Amino acid sequence: MSAQKPRRIRIFDTTLRDGEQSPGASMNLDEKLRIAEVLERMGVDVIEAGFPIASNGDFEAVRLVASKITESVVCGLARAGKRDIDRCAEALEPAKQKRIHTFISTSPLHMKFKLQMEPEQVYRAVIDSVTHARKFTDDVEWSCEDGSRTEHDFLCRCVEAAIKAGARTINVPDTVGYAIPSEFATLIEMLFNRVPNIDQAVISVHCHNDLGLAVANSLAAVQKGAGQVECTINGLGERAGNAALEEIVMALRTRHDLMPFETAIKTESIMKASRLVSAITGFPVQPNKAIVGANAFAHESGIHQDGVLKHAQTYEIMTPESVGLTRSKLVMGKHSGRHAFKEKLKELGYGEVGDNTLQTVFARFKDLADKKKELFDEDIVALLDETVAETSERIRFVALGIQCGSKGPQQAELTLEIDGAHKEATASGNGPVDATFNAIKVLYPHEAKLQLYQVHAVTQGTDAQAEVTVRLEENGRTVNGQGSDIDTLVASARAYVHALNKLITKRQKTAPAALTASA
Ligand code: KIV
Ligand code: ZN
Repeated sequence: MSAQKPRRIRIFDTTLRDGEQSPGASMNLDEKLRIAEVLERMGVDVIEAGFPIASNGDFEAVRLVASKITESVVCGLARAGKRDIDRCAEALEPAKQKRIHTFISTSPLHMKFKLQMEPEQVYRAVIDSVTHARKFTDDVEWSCEDGSRTEHDFLCRCVEAAIKAGARTINVPDTVGYAIPSEFATLIEMLFNRVPNIDQAVISVHCHNDLGLAVANSLAAVQKGAGQVECTINGLGERAGNAALEEIVMALRTRHDLMPFETAIKTESIMKASRLVSAITGFPVQPNKAIVGANAFAHESGIHQDGVLKHAQTYEIMTPESVGLTRSKLVMGKHSGRHAFKEKLKELGYGEVGDNTLQTVFARFKDLADKKKELFDEDIVALLDETVAETSERIRFVALGIQCGSKGPQQAELTLEIDGAHKEATASGNGPVDATFNAIKVLYPHEAKLQLYQVHAVTQGTDAQAEVTVRLEENGRTVNGQGSDIDTLVASARAYVHALNKLITKRQKTAPAALTASA
């Protein structure tokens, strides 16, 4: 008799929607597309690309992702109203595979205070919204917002009605991260036991991490029959975030003995996705973060090091390679040629770099190789990410000279290229970073406020490249810029200029006030 095939769990990534709802984690169109492409290659089943009614930017992002992504289902979020659903359907129109995800709150607290609706009105809205969404696609997902705090009888009625109206996926969110694993498992089990047509839909879960239980709650639900998990890269998301995709997937893979389920995720892409999301949002990954933290596979104590050398499994429950931390086959240095460099980019998963980008990034690589003893894969990834981000920018960094140290005054002499013309300025400030940013303001006057300045070393050693993130805010619009260089001040100038370019692009697009998913 053949062994039973493991149950397949669908991975629904909401980094571009719930993830972007993290304060400060805004991403532009191009960045969203880059993340979506990585998610698609990684094998994500459904990519929630945004909330089209929330802003023109969200609408455009969903439309762009829908027009480029073919392997994953592209999903858009909509509240229960017709206008939301129509706008969502319009954004998804180019998609090869599309899903409309519509939601309404079902808990007594949300219905009374947020929606100010009677339960019967909500019940009607469930049927109407799903019925309306089905006019645009067969693939409709319905969510009961604040599901984990919803009264069971009412939840069962709504779920049954949503399935009857045509929802193929029923998502049960723990919106405020309040549930504990045994309780959440019981809730999912209760739905399987009580909703008569439950077999006609996939049950999904969407857990927030307010008590640090999002992953545990999601896995408890999977063990009770949930077939889809909603999650984000690095656990990004509203407040304390959502369940982290990498933790869900690696827990299912590593503990297959107790959780005999399968996902389609190519786990070797995890590190790349994590680094990209962190670089774009400016949200660093804490060093001890499970799976993707810098220390997740580092063994510090002598006893542990000795054990790992004798047999890796003494202290490693999964291999670094399984999440994409590869020991490099090609070691790069200042004598490496263009061909080897191209091969290295392929090895790092950047197969399709255009000729112009390749030329620029190769020149910067040679420059760096002249200055730095050892070049790591992380250096090349940082150079490439920055070069891709810089293409088609109005303002470009050209050169920086700094006077600093305890004797003062701290001064920056900066050259930028603005709309094709070289411009120079000298400015002073409280320290070299302040002087550099003041020089940028002289050359390109603006009122944006600096909200975040963050430096992180790409690799170890005093000659490591610095990766700087700058967050600027202007009239409620927030952007993140990144810059990397062996010189922290040059990296700072590049990051500021990158953010400024994004702000200029954003200014050109007037968007209505953003709504949040819970608006
Ligand atoms: O947390 C939540 O309830 C949500 C829904 C819109 C699915 O994000
Ligand atoms: Zn959420």
